[in-house]
Formats: sequence, structure tokens, C-alpha cells
Amino acid sequence: MGALDEKTALVTGGTSGIGLAIAERFAKEGADVFITGRRKPELDAAVARIGPRAKGVRSDVSNLDDLDRLFALIAQHGKGLDVLVANAGGSAATETIDTLTPESFDSDFRINVRGTAFTVQKSLPLLNNDASIITLGSTSASRATRALGTYSATKAAIRQLSRVWALELAPRGIRVNTLVPGPTETPGIKGLASSPDEVDGMLKLFASKVAQNRMGRPEEIAAAALFLATDQSSFMTGSELFADGGEAQVLI
Ligand SMILES: NC(=O)c1ccc[n+]([C@@H]2O[C@H](COP(=O)([O-])OP(=O)(O)OC[C@H]3O[C@@H](n4cnc5c(N)ncnc54)[C@H](OP(=O)(O)O)[C@@H]3O)[C@@H](O)[C@H]2O)c1
Repeated sequence: MGALDEKTALVTGGTSGIGLAIAERFAKEGADVFITGRRKPELDAAVARIGPRAKGVRSDVSNLDDLDRLFALIAQHGKGLDVLVANAGGSAATETIDTLTPESFDSDFRINVRGTAFTVQKSLPLLNNDASIITLGSTSASRATRALGTYSATKAAIRQLSRVWALELAPRGIRVNTLVPGPTETPGIKGLASSPDEVDGMLKLFASKVAQNRMGRPEEIAAAALFLATDQSSFMTGSELFADGGEAQVLI
């Protein structure tokens, strides 16, 4: 018996890294899982990898028409939605304040903050009672990381919005929590390096900031997501769950 038998989940950005690991784990636990992403080849590959419980819908969280189309398709599935993981996101650029551009600033806020907010808003009619919403935070939201100002501000905004949504949705029995990964080895984080030669050095630097002195694995973040998705976390809402190897709470 799986922890998510008979449940329906949506993982935005479920084609890569953390989102893909979460979608795979949820499917293994018995859930029907909708995944999204903007790139069709990656979407098709992820659906093939996860197996028959996965359904891929190409959509961009920053496009409201795409979101309407996505939720109309989930409605056709006819079982509502038990778990929403608003995972899609990332950073357009690593820039210090002197090199910050309006384009990268707007892109990070449009995808991470606006995308998360309207994904949650448009899911509301479909969410079953006692549904779990999981938003994706970052350890960078609670400490200063050079050149990650815009990204970390989007993650602080998501954390704060999630607290308010927890309050507003509590009467429906819907819980909202923010999952906070530490540095996790994904295509997304590797993409922050300015060249392929710099990836290893960058990952080592990230790992050195973590008490466990290593990068996280997407599967480890998925295990924490599973906890938030099920009633194992029934007395948690408006909270943050750190799966970060001790990055945020342990002073190195
Ligand atoms: N990796 C880390 O160390 C780390 C740490 C803390 C928090 N996080 C957060 O965890 C989440 C996943 O990160 P990751 O490292 O797994 O990234 P990733 O490997 O780059 O995967 C990102 C996923 O989101 C999708 N995506 C991006 N923009 C989208 C959009 N506008 N609409 C729909 N889908 C979109 C991507 O597919 P397409 O590009 O095809 O759209 C992909 O499936 C992000 O919210 C990130 O901020 C990551």
C-alpha cells in the first residue's frame, strides 16, 4: 500500500531536478501525478521515466491562460486535487546590485512569485478538503548570499505568502507549508555556473556551506515533500520544513 494511494497530485516543474524526484516518489506511492514544464522533449522524457501514473501538461506558470488550460485538464480527471507542489522556478541570473537588470528581476518575480501565487489561486476550486499545498522556498531567503538578491527575495515572498494562505485556507482544512531545500544537485543549480568548467568548483563551494559538507540529492527533498503531502504532517501549516543538511540553522 502506498502513502498516496487514490490521491491526485500536481507538481509544477516536474520535468527536472527536485520536481521530477517529487513526482517520481509520489507516483511510486500510488498517486496520479500531473507534471508541467515549458519544454516538450523534457516533459515527454519525464512522463516516460515516471510511468503510467504520470500525465504531462506543457505549460508555463507565468502564463495565466496556460494555468487555466492546465486546471481544466485536471478537472477532467474527475478526482479533484489532493496535493499541489508549486515547485516551478529558479533564477534568471546571478547578479549583484550593481549589475542587476530589470529583465532578470522581472523574470524571477514573474515565474517564482506570480507563478506560485496564481498556480495556488487557480487550484482552489479543485482542491479537495484536507489537501496539502507545498511551496518551494530556499535557505537563501533567510541569509545573505552574494549575487542571489533577487532570487532570495522571491523565495522570502513565497514563504510569507504561504503563511497568509495557510491562514486563509485553514477553514477548508487545506494546509500550506514551504519546503526549504539546501543546495541540491539538479540541472537548475548547475545552470548557475558561468561555464561548464566551473560547475564542480561551484558545487564544492555550495557544499562547504552545509554542516554535512555535501550537496543534497533530489530524492532527499522528495522524501520531505512526501511527509508534507500526507497526514503524517497533519498538525503542520504555515510552516517551513528545512531539508538542507544543516545549512540554515547550523553556523559553519
Ligand atoms: N536545487 C537547489 O539547490 C534548490 C535549492 C532551494 C530551492 N530550490 C527550488 O526548487 C525548485 C526546483 O529547482 P531545481 O533545482 O530542481 O530546478 P531545475 O532542475 O531547473 O528544474 C526546474 C523545473 O521547473 C520548470 N520550470 C521553470 N520555469 C517554469 C515555468 N515558468 N513554468 C513551468 N515550469 C517551469 C523546468 O522546466 P522548463 O524549463 O522546461 O519549464 C523544470 O521542470 C525551484 O523552485 C528552486 O528555486 C532549488
